[in-house]
Amino acid sequence: MKVNLRKINRPADHAACWCGSGRAYAECHKAQDDRLDGLKRAGYKVPNRKLIKTPAQIEGCREAGRINSLVLDAVAAMIRPGITTQDIDDAVAAKTKELGGIAATLGFEGYPASVCTSVNNVVCHGIPSKKVVLKEGDIINVDCTTIYNGYYGDASRMFCIGEVSPEAKKLVDVTKESIELALKHLKPYSHIGDIGYYVNYHARKNGYHVVREIGGHGVGLQMHEDPYVCHIGQLNKGMVLAPGMIFTIEPMINEGTGAFYQDEHDGWTIYTADGSLSAQWEYEILMTETGYEILSK
Ligand code: MF3
Ligand code: CO
Ligand code: CO
Repeated sequence: MKVNLRKINRPADHAACWCGSGRAYAECHKAQDDRLDGLKRAGYKVPNRKLIKTPAQIEGCREAGRINSLVLDAVAAMIRPGITTQDIDDAVAAKTKELGGIAATLGFEGYPASVCTSVNNVVCHGIPSKKVVLKEGDIINVDCTTIYNGYYGDASRMFCIGEVSPEAKKLVDVTKESIELALKHLKPYSHIGDIGYYVNYHARKNGYHVVREIGGHGVGLQMHEDPYVCHIGQLNKGMVLAPGMIFTIEPMINEGTGAFYQDEHDGWTIYTADGSLSAQWEYEILMTETGYEILSK
Protein backbone atom coordinates (compact mmCIF):
# COMPACT_ATOMS: atom_id res chain seq x y z
CA MET A 1 0.00 0.00 0.00
CA LYS A 2 1.19 3.48 -0.83
CA VAL A 3 1.28 5.89 2.10
CA ASN A 4 1.27 9.65 1.61
CA LEU A 5 3.81 10.79 4.21
CA ARG A 6 2.91 14.41 3.76
CA LYS A 7 -0.65 13.56 4.63
CA ILE A 8 0.12 11.56 7.77
CA ASN A 9 2.33 14.39 9.08
CA ARG A 10 -0.62 16.71 9.03
CA PRO A 11 -2.39 18.07 12.08
CA ALA A 12 -6.11 17.35 12.50
CA ASP A 13 -8.38 20.00 11.01
CA HIS A 14 -9.19 21.60 14.36
CA ALA A 15 -5.66 21.23 15.80
CA ALA A 16 -3.10 24.05 15.74
CA CYS A 17 -1.39 24.53 12.36
CA TRP A 18 2.23 23.35 12.07
CA CYS A 19 3.34 26.93 11.31
CA GLY A 20 2.79 28.19 14.85
CA SER A 21 0.18 30.78 13.83
CA GLY A 22 -2.13 29.51 16.56
CA ARG A 23 -4.90 29.11 13.98
CA ALA A 24 -6.67 25.82 13.28
CA TYR A 25 -4.93 23.79 10.58
CA ALA A 26 -8.08 23.76 8.41
CA GLU A 27 -8.10 27.56 8.39
CA CYS A 28 -4.34 27.94 7.92
CA HIS A 29 -1.95 25.84 5.79
CA LYS A 30 -4.28 22.95 4.94
CA ALA A 31 -5.34 24.28 1.56
CA GLN A 32 -1.71 24.94 0.63
CA ASP A 33 -0.66 21.43 1.73
CA ASP A 34 -3.48 19.99 -0.41
CA ARG A 35 -2.39 21.99 -3.42
CA LEU A 36 1.28 21.02 -3.05
CA ASP A 37 0.33 17.36 -2.57
CA GLY A 38 -1.63 17.52 -5.80
CA LEU A 39 1.26 19.08 -7.68
CA LYS A 40 3.63 16.47 -6.26
CA ARG A 41 1.38 13.63 -7.38
CA ALA A 42 1.30 15.23 -10.82
CA GLY A 43 5.10 14.94 -10.92
CA TYR A 44 6.18 18.48 -10.00
CA LYS A 45 8.98 19.27 -7.60
CA VAL A 46 7.47 20.88 -4.50
CA PRO A 47 9.13 22.52 -1.49
CA ASN A 48 9.25 20.61 1.77
CA ARG A 49 7.91 22.27 4.90
CA LYS A 50 11.35 23.52 5.95
CA LEU A 51 11.35 25.84 2.93
CA ILE A 52 8.00 27.38 3.89
CA LYS A 53 8.61 30.12 6.46
CA THR A 54 6.25 30.48 9.43
CA PRO A 55 4.57 33.83 10.13
CA ALA A 56 7.14 34.53 12.89
CA GLN A 57 10.03 33.73 10.56
CA ILE A 58 8.55 35.89 7.81
CA GLU A 59 8.31 38.84 10.19
CA GLY A 60 11.96 38.29 11.24
CA CYS A 61 13.11 38.08 7.62
CA ARG A 62 11.13 41.19 6.71
CA GLU A 63 12.97 43.16 9.40
CA ALA A 64 16.37 41.73 8.38
CA GLY A 65 15.65 42.66 4.77
CA ARG A 66 14.67 46.18 5.75
CA ILE A 67 17.88 46.63 7.76
CA ASN A 68 19.93 45.18 4.89
CA SER A 69 18.46 47.74 2.46
CA LEU A 70 19.31 50.54 4.90
CA VAL A 71 22.94 49.38 4.83
CA LEU A 72 22.87 49.53 1.02
CA ASP A 73 21.35 53.03 1.27
CA ALA A 74 24.34 54.06 3.40
CA VAL A 75 26.67 52.78 0.67
CA ALA A 76 24.69 54.72 -1.97
CA ALA A 77 25.20 57.89 0.06
CA MET A 78 29.01 57.60 0.25
CA ILE A 79 30.07 55.89 -2.99
CA ARG A 80 31.97 58.19 -5.41
CA PRO A 81 35.17 58.36 -7.43
CA GLY A 82 38.34 58.33 -5.35
CA ILE A 83 37.21 56.10 -2.49
CA THR A 84 38.52 52.55 -2.09
CA THR A 85 36.45 49.40 -1.81
CA GLN A 86 37.85 49.16 1.74
CA ASP A 87 36.04 52.44 2.47
CA ILE A 88 32.82 50.70 1.38
CA ASP A 89 33.59 47.81 3.74
CA ASP A 90 34.17 50.28 6.59
CA ALA A 91 30.87 52.05 5.83
CA VAL A 92 28.97 48.75 5.75
CA ALA A 93 30.54 47.59 9.01
CA ALA A 94 29.73 50.89 10.74
CA LYS A 95 26.12 51.14 9.47
CA THR A 96 25.38 47.49 10.22
CA LYS A 97 26.62 47.96 13.79
CA GLU A 98 24.67 51.20 14.23
CA LEU A 99 21.48 49.38 13.20
CA GLY A 100 22.12 46.48 15.57
CA GLY A 101 22.90 43.93 12.86
CA ILE A 102 25.80 41.64 12.02
CA ALA A 103 27.53 41.52 8.63
CA ALA A 104 26.94 37.88 7.67
CA THR A 105 29.81 37.48 5.24
CA LEU A 106 32.59 38.34 7.72
CA GLY A 107 34.10 34.96 8.59
CA PHE A 108 31.63 33.03 6.42
CA GLU A 109 33.64 30.04 5.17
CA GLY A 110 36.69 32.22 5.79
CA TYR A 111 35.51 35.22 3.76
CA PRO A 112 37.49 38.18 5.18
CA ALA A 113 35.14 41.18 4.80
CA SER A 114 31.70 42.63 5.69
CA VAL A 115 30.58 43.05 2.08
CA CYS A 116 31.41 41.91 -1.47
CA THR A 117 32.59 44.64 -3.88
CA SER A 118 32.86 43.46 -7.48
CA VAL A 119 34.28 45.99 -9.94
CA ASN A 120 34.02 45.87 -13.79
CA ASN A 121 35.17 42.38 -14.92
CA VAL A 122 34.66 40.91 -11.44
CA VAL A 123 31.52 38.77 -11.54
CA CYS A 124 31.04 38.43 -7.77
CA HIS A 125 32.74 37.91 -4.38
CA GLY A 126 35.25 40.74 -4.89
CA ILE A 127 37.06 41.34 -1.59
CA PRO A 128 37.25 44.97 -0.45
CA SER A 129 40.78 46.37 -0.53
CA LYS A 130 42.65 49.60 0.15
CA LYS A 131 44.34 49.03 -3.19
CA VAL A 132 41.14 49.18 -5.25
CA VAL A 133 40.35 52.86 -5.85
CA LEU A 134 37.06 53.60 -7.64
CA LYS A 135 37.54 55.76 -10.67
CA GLU A 136 35.22 57.56 -13.07
CA GLY A 137 33.77 55.03 -15.54
CA ASP A 138 33.84 52.00 -13.21
CA ILE A 139 30.79 49.88 -12.51
CA ILE A 140 30.60 48.08 -9.18
CA ASN A 141 28.31 45.62 -7.48
CA VAL A 142 27.97 45.99 -3.72
CA ASP A 143 26.44 42.89 -2.11
CA CYS A 144 25.31 43.09 1.51
CA THR A 145 24.10 40.26 3.72
CA THR A 146 22.88 41.23 7.18
CA ILE A 147 21.93 39.11 10.18
CA TYR A 148 19.32 40.86 12.31
CA ASN A 149 17.78 39.21 15.33
CA GLY A 150 18.96 35.84 13.96
CA TYR A 151 17.43 36.29 10.49
CA TYR A 152 19.28 36.94 7.22
CA GLY A 153 18.70 39.66 4.66
CA ASP A 154 20.56 39.61 1.33
CA ALA A 155 20.60 42.05 -1.60
CA SER A 156 22.97 43.85 -3.93
CA ARG A 157 23.03 46.89 -6.18
CA MET A 158 25.12 48.20 -9.03
CA PHE A 159 26.66 51.66 -8.87
CA CYS A 160 28.01 53.63 -11.80
CA ILE A 161 31.02 55.69 -10.74
CA GLY A 162 30.69 59.14 -12.27
CA GLU A 163 30.09 59.07 -16.01
CA VAL A 164 30.32 55.52 -17.43
CA SER A 165 30.37 54.35 -21.06
CA PRO A 166 26.99 53.80 -22.76
CA GLU A 167 27.92 50.11 -23.05
CA ALA A 168 28.53 49.77 -19.31
CA LYS A 169 25.32 51.65 -18.51
CA LYS A 170 23.33 49.39 -20.80
CA LEU A 171 24.70 46.23 -19.16
CA VAL A 172 23.81 47.59 -15.71
CA ASP A 173 20.30 48.55 -16.83
CA VAL A 174 19.56 45.34 -18.75
CA THR A 175 20.63 43.24 -15.76
CA LYS A 176 18.16 45.05 -13.52
CA GLU A 177 15.44 44.86 -16.19
CA SER A 178 15.94 41.09 -16.37
CA ILE A 179 14.91 40.75 -12.73
CA GLU A 180 11.96 43.10 -13.24
CA LEU A 181 10.80 41.01 -16.19
CA ALA A 182 11.01 37.82 -14.12
CA LEU A 183 9.02 39.53 -11.35
CA LYS A 184 6.33 40.56 -13.83
CA HIS A 185 5.65 36.87 -14.39
CA LEU A 186 6.22 35.66 -10.82
CA LYS A 187 3.06 34.19 -9.30
CA PRO A 188 2.49 31.87 -6.35
CA TYR A 189 2.76 28.23 -7.52
CA SER A 190 4.66 29.21 -10.66
CA HIS A 191 8.02 27.50 -11.19
CA ILE A 192 11.60 28.39 -10.42
CA GLY A 193 12.51 27.70 -14.06
CA ASP A 194 10.34 30.65 -15.10
CA ILE A 195 12.73 33.02 -13.33
CA GLY A 196 15.71 31.70 -15.28
CA TYR A 197 13.70 31.71 -18.48
CA TYR A 198 12.81 35.41 -18.31
CA VAL A 199 16.19 36.57 -16.99
CA ASN A 200 18.05 34.69 -19.71
CA TYR A 201 15.56 35.75 -22.39
CA HIS A 202 16.16 39.42 -21.63
CA ALA A 203 19.95 39.03 -21.40
CA ARG A 204 20.22 37.12 -24.68
CA LYS A 205 17.91 39.57 -26.46
CA ASN A 206 20.46 42.25 -25.62
CA GLY A 207 23.46 40.19 -26.72
CA TYR A 208 24.67 39.20 -23.25
CA HIS A 209 25.31 35.91 -21.47
CA VAL A 210 24.07 34.79 -18.07
CA VAL A 211 26.35 32.98 -15.63
CA ARG A 212 24.77 29.57 -15.16
CA GLU A 213 26.72 28.06 -12.29
CA ILE A 214 26.37 30.83 -9.69
CA GLY A 215 22.89 32.00 -8.79
CA GLY A 216 20.20 32.78 -6.29
CA HIS A 217 19.18 30.76 -3.26
CA GLY A 218 16.72 30.34 -0.46
CA VAL A 219 17.56 32.62 2.46
CA GLY A 220 16.30 33.60 5.87
CA LEU A 221 17.38 31.26 8.63
CA GLN A 222 20.79 30.87 6.98
CA MET A 223 22.64 32.80 4.30
CA HIS A 224 22.26 30.05 1.72
CA GLU A 225 19.33 27.65 1.78
CA ASP A 226 17.58 25.51 -0.82
CA PRO A 227 16.45 25.94 -3.52
CA TYR A 228 19.15 27.00 -5.97
CA VAL A 229 17.80 29.69 -8.31
CA CYS A 230 19.46 29.30 -11.70
CA HIS A 231 19.16 32.33 -13.97
CA ILE A 232 18.94 30.17 -17.06
CA GLY A 233 15.79 28.07 -17.04
CA GLN A 234 12.75 26.67 -18.75
CA LEU A 235 9.12 27.64 -18.29
CA ASN A 236 7.14 25.35 -15.98
CA LYS A 237 10.26 23.46 -14.87
CA GLY A 238 11.90 23.29 -11.47
CA MET A 239 10.51 23.70 -7.99
CA VAL A 240 7.04 25.14 -7.42
CA LEU A 241 7.23 28.54 -5.66
CA ALA A 242 4.81 28.34 -2.76
CA PRO A 243 3.65 31.17 -0.48
CA GLY A 244 6.03 31.49 2.46
CA MET A 245 9.16 30.72 0.46
CA ILE A 246 11.96 33.32 0.61
CA PHE A 247 14.74 33.36 -1.96
CA THR A 248 16.95 35.68 -3.97
CA ILE A 249 17.03 36.53 -7.66
CA GLU A 250 20.58 37.73 -8.37
CA PRO A 251 21.65 37.25 -11.99
CA MET A 252 25.23 37.81 -13.00
CA ILE A 253 25.19 38.94 -16.63
CA ASN A 254 28.34 39.27 -18.74
CA GLU A 255 28.97 41.37 -21.83
CA GLY A 256 30.91 38.44 -23.29
CA THR A 257 30.57 34.74 -22.56
CA GLY A 258 29.17 33.34 -19.34
CA ALA A 259 32.47 31.66 -18.51
CA PHE A 260 34.44 32.69 -15.42
CA TYR A 261 37.37 31.71 -13.22
CA GLN A 262 38.23 32.06 -9.56
CA ASP A 263 41.24 33.94 -8.21
CA GLU A 264 43.67 31.26 -7.12
CA HIS A 265 45.40 33.50 -4.59
CA ASP A 266 42.46 34.86 -2.59
CA GLY A 267 40.21 31.85 -3.30
CA TRP A 268 37.12 34.10 -3.68
CA THR A 269 37.13 36.65 -6.47
CA ILE A 270 35.30 35.48 -9.61
CA TYR A 271 36.37 37.10 -12.89
CA THR A 272 34.89 36.88 -16.38
CA ALA A 273 36.99 34.46 -18.44
CA ASP A 274 37.29 36.92 -21.33
CA GLY A 275 37.86 40.06 -19.25
CA SER A 276 34.52 41.55 -20.32
CA LEU A 277 32.27 43.53 -17.97
CA SER A 278 29.83 41.79 -15.64
CA ALA A 279 26.84 43.21 -13.79
CA GLN A 280 24.62 41.87 -11.01
CA TRP A 281 21.64 43.01 -9.00
CA GLU A 282 20.12 40.99 -6.17
CA TYR A 283 16.54 41.16 -4.87
CA GLU A 284 15.26 39.15 -1.92
CA ILE A 285 11.72 37.89 -2.51
CA LEU A 286 8.95 36.49 -0.31
CA MET A 287 6.22 34.54 -2.07
CA THR A 288 2.75 35.45 -0.76
CA GLU A 289 -0.77 34.07 -1.31
CA THR A 290 -1.46 36.70 -3.95
CA GLY A 291 1.96 37.47 -5.42
CA TYR A 292 5.28 38.40 -3.93
CA GLU A 293 6.91 40.96 -1.66
CA ILE A 294 10.42 42.35 -2.11
CA LEU A 295 12.11 42.00 1.30
CA SER A 296 15.38 43.64 0.26
CA LYS A 297 16.82 45.26 -2.82
N1 MF3 B 1 25.78 37.81 -0.63
C1 MF3 B 1 26.24 36.72 -1.45
C2 MF3 B 1 25.03 36.10 -2.09
O1 MF3 B 1 24.25 36.82 -2.64
C3 MF3 B 1 27.01 35.71 -0.68
C4 MF3 B 1 28.35 36.17 -0.32
S1 MF3 B 1 29.19 34.92 0.42
C5 MF3 B 1 30.72 35.53 0.63
O2 MF3 B 1 24.76 34.95 -2.06
F1 MF3 B 1 31.31 34.73 1.43
F2 MF3 B 1 31.32 35.65 -0.52
F3 MF3 B 1 30.63 36.72 1.17
CO1 CO C 1 24.08 38.73 -1.81
CO1 CO D 1 22.41 35.99 -2.38
